[in-house]
Amino acid sequence: MRLVLLGPPGAGKGTQSVVLANKYGLPHISTGDILREAVREGLPLGLEAKAYMDRGELVPDKVVTGIVAERLKKPDTRPGFILDGFPRTLKQAEELDKALKAMSSGIDIVLYFATSPEVAIERLTGRRVCKSCGFNYHVKNMPPKKEGVCDRCGGELFQRPDDTEATVRNRLKVYEDQTKPLIDYYMKQGILKRVSGDMGVDELFKVLSKIFSDAKLS
Ligand code: AP5
Repeated sequence: MRLVLLGPPGAGKGTQSVVLANKYGLPHISTGDILREAVREGLPLGLEAKAYMDRGELVPDKVVTGIVAERLKKPDTRPGFILDGFPRTLKQAEELDKALKAMSSGIDIVLYFATSPEVAIERLTGRRVCKSCGFNYHVKNMPPKKEGVCDRCGGELFQRPDDTEATVRNRLKVYEDQTKPLIDYYMKQGILKRVSGDMGVDELFKVLSKIFSDAKLS
């Protein structure tokens, strides 16, 4: 099963990717996670990407398409994969199609998570992430038992630099301008499925599971 998760920041793409990856045993490929890891490790890729990410802008296409093309060559992607946050521009989508075609492959389903800007802003400005294990909390909806400390591993919680309200608003604008055109692109290919990202995590997961069984992918 080869999936793309498309939607605005805060729609829940990362959250559902983790659940789907566990259930179906597929690699979760998040370009955001790969870039953040490169920033943490001080790699040249991270140094190049950080300024874009902190402003809520997209990292240049050639950088991101190169990362994904290399990742898709790894053998663990043979049974399928979950692409989270990629593609995000028409150029990236075309490059992905080309790369997959060269492997006699293609995307099965693009899941489009539709979410209102209000929901996205509320979720992201309240998000706190564990520095050690990466688990997500929300200051109101899912607070840790002890403020600033991860329930799971005791790690320190922090706010992503791009989760401040001003940057979230810019990320939403960038999404409208550069990523939303992908909805049409994939609709024309007949592989887009729209779901509401405003649903609860478990409810949404059930909807996604039904889409896969209807499409005879699971
Ligand atoms: P990236 O990390 O991909 O950020 P994003 O797309 O903005 O995604 P988010 O992680 O903010 O949102 P999400 O939809 O995954 O929601 P999540 O599940 O985390 O990208 C960051 C940056 O990297 C970009 O701005 C760009 O600079 C660069 N980049 C990445 N990919 C790129 C590309 N292809 N090209 C160029 N540049 C690229 O959930 C959010 C919060 O809501 C969490 O707290 C979660 O607990 C909560 N939540 C989730 N689902 C629900 C639910 N159903 N109900 C209630 N709360 C929920």
